[in-house]
Amino acid sequence: MKTNKIGAIDIGTTKICSLIAETDGTGLRVLGIGSVPSKGLQKGQVVNIAEARESVRASIRAAEKTAGFRMDSAVVSMSGKHVSSGNKRGVISITGNRKQTVEKKDVERLLEITRSENMPPEETVLHQIPRYFRVDGQDGVKDPVGMFGYRLDVETHTITASVTSLENLTKCVVGAGVKIDNVVFEPLASAASVLTEDEKRDGVLLADIGGGTTNIAVYKNDSVYYSSVISVAGNQISRDISLGLGLNPELSEELKVRYGSLIPLPQTEKLKPLLVDGEEIAYEDLFDIIHIRTEELLRLVLLQVNNDTGGELDPSTLPAGIVFTGGTANLPGIAEMAQQVTQAPCRIGYPPRVSGIADSISGPEYAASFGLLLWKMETPEAHYRQKMNNRIFKNTGVLSRVIRIFGK
Ligand SMILES: Nc1ncnc2c1ncn2[C@@H]1O[C@H](COP(=O)(O)OP(=O)(O)OP(=O)(O)O)[C@@H](O)[C@H]1O
Ligand SMILES: [Mg+2]
Repeated sequence: MKTNKIGAIDIGTTKICSLIAETDGTGLRVLGIGSVPSKGLQKGQVVNIAEARESVRASIRAAEKTAGFRMDSAVVSMSGKHVSSGNKRGVISITGNRKQTVEKKDVERLLEITRSENMPPEETVLHQIPRYFRVDGQDGVKDPVGMFGYRLDVETHTITASVTSLENLTKCVVGAGVKIDNVVFEPLASAASVLTEDEKRDGVLLADIGGGTTNIAVYKNDSVYYSSVISVAGNQISRDISLGLGLNPELSEELKVRYGSLIPLPQTEKLKPLLVDGEEIAYEDLFDIIHIRTEELLRLVLLQVNNDTGGELDPSTLPAGIVFTGGTANLPGIAEMAQQVTQAPCRIGYPPRVSGIADSISGPEYAASFGLLLWKMETPEAHYRQKMNNRIFKNTGVLSRVIRIFGK
């Protein structure tokens, strides 16, 4: 069977992760991985092109070395406060054909009009996701092509990014010698690799808590209803440890990763202090800082979603609850803590186990990188124009087929 090589580059604040995979169009095998510390980024955004480009290059080269192939092009992630999103509506009249049926070109025209309306010149559309169409009075239509009608309405979730930030990101990747296939807003990539079809249908919040940013996407009725970025994540926890315990940033980060936990401490036992550079640090102090900061971050997520949606998408009411990805999701007990805070079911999202060297990308911090590969294989939006007629909205089945073909 004919296979293609595909590439993904997740450009994060703490790490840049490049993946090279092989796909036959239905399944994929991860062949190469290059995960390196990132430089030149702050809170998800490129702030120093030369430094960021070198990190991207190092990550690509490392992936190429393990794969034994060059990466020609890649799907690339994007995040940062400059990304904004909202639900946009549009309407057109169906005219010009005798049968008075909606044609593919009508849908394209409607989406184009909706996309360009009220678009500031300094912003560009990253994603336009049609949530549903309405044909005359009939609501909730997923694919209107072929339907009889005079009026076609659409409601879309539209995600925009600043042109400058996109240009900077492009310079880093193209400057490192790789063409860009698509730029994907990070939480959508993470969602593609960890959310189930049932979760997306019933209602679920995906929170990718990385180093510099927490990226949020809420799915309902198989579609994205809300997305946003919070510029607070794991690095803030480390910074608070550094400030609170008077330690240098590297040591604080190390202590957090090695001893950090949100699992309540036993009340009865006195825990042994940690010995750091000859000094004793009370484990309870480290625990308290991590606990307080993480709980605050979780509450911030709830607050932001509730404020932005007027309570309509209150995470505690979402039937499938919250799924966490990103490096900070490695904190033991985070799902349990979130469950207590929100009263909603919570879990950690791990990328699916496929064959190849996927073992090295099994943690929640690799959900976005893996999702970018899936994005390239098939998503409703990436291939919207080409596949409008048959797989208009759902990326249903991508994951199940990946696992079926190559899975362990
Ligand atoms: N075991 C762990 N316990 C606690 N925190 C962890 C652990 N492992 C990683 N982290 C934290 O996860 C963060 C990095 O996550 P991730 O790799 O998802 O970030 P990123 O994608 O580079 O950043 P961003 O998406 O925010 O731009 C760091 O703050 C790191 O300290
Ligand atoms: Mg990330």
